[in-house]
Amino acid sequence: MSGHVVVDARDDSDLAECAEVLGAVHRADGYPVNWPADPEGWLRVDGAVGAWVARLDGRVAGHVLLARPRPVDVAPRLAPPERPTCVVGRLFVAPAARGRRIGARLLERAAREAARRGGARAVLDVVPRDVAAVALYERAGWTFLGAGQQEWGPGELVDVRCYAASPKSEETP
Ligand SMILES: CC(C)(COP(=O)(O)OP(=O)(O)OC[C@H]1O[C@@H](n2cnc3c(N)ncnc32)[C@H](O)[C@@H]1OP(=O)(O)O)[C@@H](O)C(=O)NCCC(=O)NCCS
Repeated sequence: MSGHVVVDARDDSDLAECAEVLGAVHRADGYPVNWPADPEGWLRVDGAVGAWVARLDGRVAGHVLLARPRPVDVAPRLAPPERPTCVVGRLFVAPAARGRRIGARLLERAAREAARRGGARAVLDVVPRDVAAVALYERAGWTFLGAGQQEWGPGELVDVRCYAASPKSEETP
């Protein structure tokens, strides 16, 4: 494995491979907590404005998505009101491909794309048990907006930590 990583806009033809990687992530880390009946459908989010994959030596090794805020999203409500927001989600990296800055690059890509879309700031929420993700956001200098409760389904509220993109994440490389 040469370790060559590229980040590309996701294509529908990537979805099956993304779902396969997601399965490995779920088995390793319990993300997502509730395994979806239709994993490819779970990756096609209503209100998505962009989705990207990272390929490691040509194989999908990571994924991220950016979506318009929904009324139930807690992070946009905690963000300073000066800028519109976009919500980062569905971020994961194959267990075998970790520690190569793939997660960091996907996060930067989403933050840059949000900034390009009318100056929006990327925001996200994370459950505290996803310790690698929390470490990634703090390492990337994202701003902690506060703790809140995010609705995952009817009557299902979970405690989350919310973050907003750092100026560095938004810089065009
Ligand atoms: C979170 C996740 C995407 C990170 O992917 P990754 O490609 O391994 O992360 P990176 O290599 O880009 O890490 C960047 C920085 O984050 C921090 N970090 C990442 N994983 C870490 C871990 N397990 N422990 C401590 N710090 C970690 C490190 O500071 C790292 O930089 P450094 O090694 O130079 O110090 C991956 O662990 C994952 O898919 N987890 C399960 C799914 C998940 O929790 N998704 C987020 C839901 S909100």
